[in-house]
Amino acid sequence: MKVLIATEKPFAPVAVKGIKDILDEASVDLELLEKYTEKKQLLEAVATANALIVRSDIIDEEVMQAAPELKIIVRAGAGYDNIDLEAATRHGIIVENTPGQNANAVAELVIGMLIYTIRNRFNGTSGTELMGKKLGLLAFGAVAQNLARIAHGMGMDVSSFSPLNRPQKIIDAGFHVTDTLEDLFIHNHIVSLHVPSTPQTRGSIGYDLVMKMRKNGILVNTARQDIIDEEGLIRAFEERTDLRYVTDLKLKAHDEAVAKLGDRYVFTPKKMGAQTAEANINAGLAAAQQIVDYFKDGNHTYQVNK
Ligand code: 3PG
Repeated sequence: MKVLIATEKPFAPVAVKGIKDILDEASVDLELLEKYTEKKQLLEAVATANALIVRSDIIDEEVMQAAPELKIIVRAGAGYDNIDLEAATRHGIIVENTPGQNANAVAELVIGMLIYTIRNRFNGTSGTELMGKKLGLLAFGAVAQNLARIAHGMGMDVSSFSPLNRPQKIIDAGFHVTDTLEDLFIHNHIVSLHVPSTPQTRGSIGYDLVMKMRKNGILVNTARQDIIDEEGLIRAFEERTDLRYVTDLKLKAHDEAVAKLGDRYVFTPKKMGAQTAEANINAGLAAAQQIVDYFKDGNHTYQVNK
C-alpha cells in the first residue's frame, strides 16, 4: 500500500514526519513529491499510488487516468475546487477534505495583513487601529469563526452575512447577523470574504458591491481568487480611490492591479494563509489518519464527492 504526498507548496518538515509516523504505524509506504514544476512529474508519481494527499494541486482527469491504483484523494485543507470531483466519481475514487484544520492560520493571516495595511506598510507614517472598527464576514465557516473570535478579542464589532441563509451559527456565536449581502458592504469598515469557489460564488464580488463600500473601506480576500469579478473590481477601485484590496490570492490581472491600484493593492507573493507548521500538522496528519481509517474499515466521513 502506498500513499503519495504531492505538494507543489510543501508542508513543514515536522508535518511530513508526523504523516510518516501515522503511515508507518499502519504499515503503509510513503512517497514524497514536493515542489514539482511540471505536471509530468505528478503523472509519473501517481502511477503506483493507492492514496494521494494534496493541497491546492490541480488533480484533473488526466492525473486520475495515470493512477490506476488510486482509491482515495485527500485534500489537506478545506477547499476542494482544485479536484475534478465528477471525474473522481467516474473513476471510483473517493475525495475527502480536512475541514477546519488550517482555519486559525488563515484567520491570523487576515489580522496580520490588516495591521500591515492600516499601519501603512510599516513605513513610519501614522496609521489607524482595528479596535472599534466594524468587520463584516461573508459566510461563517471555520475561517470566519476563528477570525470573529480574534477580531472580537481585539475590540472589533463583528457581523456576518450567511449566503446560505443559515444565520443560527452566527447568532449562537454571539455575533450580529447582516440581512443582505449589500448591507455587509455598505455598513462595515472591513469586509472579509470566506465563501468557497462554487458555480454560485464565482465572479460574484464585483463592481456593484465594491461601489457600495463605505469610505476608506478595506476588502479582504483569503478565500479564492475566482470569486472576484476582476474587471468589475478594478474598475470600481479606479473610481473609489479611498478603498484598499488586501488579498492572499493575487489577481489574474495582477500587473494591471499593481499599475492601477498601487499601494492600495496589498498581496502576498504566494498563497500562504495555511502555511504554518501548526496548520500543516493539523491538516496533514488528519489527511493521513483519514486514509488509514478508510483502508482499515471503509470510513469515509469526510467524503465530498458522491
Ligand atoms: C484551503 O482551502 O484549505 C486553503 O486555501 C489552503 O490552501 P493551501 O493548502 O494551498 O495552502
